[in-house]
Amino acid sequence: EVIDADGQVALPGFVDLHTHLREPGREDTETIATGSAAAALGGYTAVFAMANTDPVADNAVIVEHVWRRGREVGLVDVHPVGAVTVGLKGEKLAELGTMARSQADVRVFSDDGHCVADPLIMRRALEYTKALDGVIAQHAEEPRLTVNAQAHEGERAARLGLAGWPAAAEESIVARDCLLAKQTGARLHVCHVSTAGTVDVLRWAKERGTKVSAEVTPHHLLLTDERLATYDPVNKVNPPLRTESDVQVLREALAEGVVDCVATDHAPHAPQDKDCEWSAARPGMLGLQTALSIVVETLVRPGLLDWRGVARVMSEKPAEIAGLPDQGRPLAVGEPATLVLVDPTARWTVRGAELASIAGNTPFEGMELPGVVRTTMLRGRVTVSEGKVQS
Ligand code: DOR
Ligand code: ZN
Ligand code: ZN
Repeated sequence: EVIDADGQVALPGFVDLHTHLREPGREDTETIATGSAAAALGGYTAVFAMANTDPVADNAVIVEHVWRRGREVGLVDVHPVGAVTVGLKGEKLAELGTMARSQADVRVFSDDGHCVADPLIMRRALEYTKALDGVIAQHAEEPRLTVNAQAHEGERAARLGLAGWPAAAEESIVARDCLLAKQTGARLHVCHVSTAGTVDVLRWAKERGTKVSAEVTPHHLLLTDERLATYDPVNKVNPPLRTESDVQVLREALAEGVVDCVATDHAPHAPQDKDCEWSAARPGMLGLQTALSIVVETLVRPGLLDWRGVARVMSEKPAEIAGLPDQGRPLAVGEPATLVLVDPTARWTVRGAELASIAGNTPFEGMELPGVVRTTMLRGRVTVSEGKVQS
């Protein structure tokens, strides 16, 4: 088979540190099969499946199930994330070592959806994951500052009568966790950084030698709380969409490397959980099939990042953070290829109904975006050809 890659950009396959696949428990919104297809179409060759499934992935049985199902589907490497605490309740540490030693070989742990808020539990979790050579991916949210929070705290939310989610709810936990990571020598990964203040905290922590990494989502790179004006719950997400100046600082921080990588926080939801009152809607947005295009739109086109930089933030850095030796790097001679071919100039229009996910909750509906994934290959196997999944 000959692949015509004329005019296309070849990059190492993308690695998503933050994907919600909803299996087990909410297969009406996404399955490991449909989520893997969406990932491959988005140029991904590895995804980290978050633990807030039903039941929660807080034990070896569930993580092995997710791992096995991912292998059966075979479109991307599905790496289960292990919960930090039992049932994401924050009260008792899950059996991190058992999950690490399971077939799933779990090294990334997170209570995402919830924050590991108790400082003692967080400190012990950092010590355990250090011993396991793993990392904690923290959803940074001080829950006592976000009681009933519905949107970014500020004028726009106030005008709509929506309770605010202050920047300090994120920044205070990130600062605390950086201190704990420094003191324990453990590695910390900060999920979905959304404020300029968090970038300041990360800069400070990195300067003093903290082993901290951080991700930003495509939606926090493009959208602002101006979207609140539509009152459409497709724009509801945790952490919330912030301000124009936050977005600008996040773009620059990613280009500079203070924020290490892009992660989607791909969060499929059922229609009834989005087509409702704002306050009743679930937070979250689809992300896998639009991530690359948003990075091109927000960073490549304005000249903040070149294609080398795209490889860094979409592939190399996330692979390094998660400890994947066989992803996120140039191919060795004779090695079966794990790569993506992107048409850098072609454009496409986002239609939620046409995405591979079962759910259709994309905030980018109707947008015409640059950057089209033509081919994805996982260890020599073509998973996507001319924009179609090869199953
Ligand atoms: O918007 C979000 N959706 N933020 C989270 O932390 C969880 C996620 C989900 O699981 O839907
Ligand atoms: Zn989260
Ligand atoms: Zn998430």
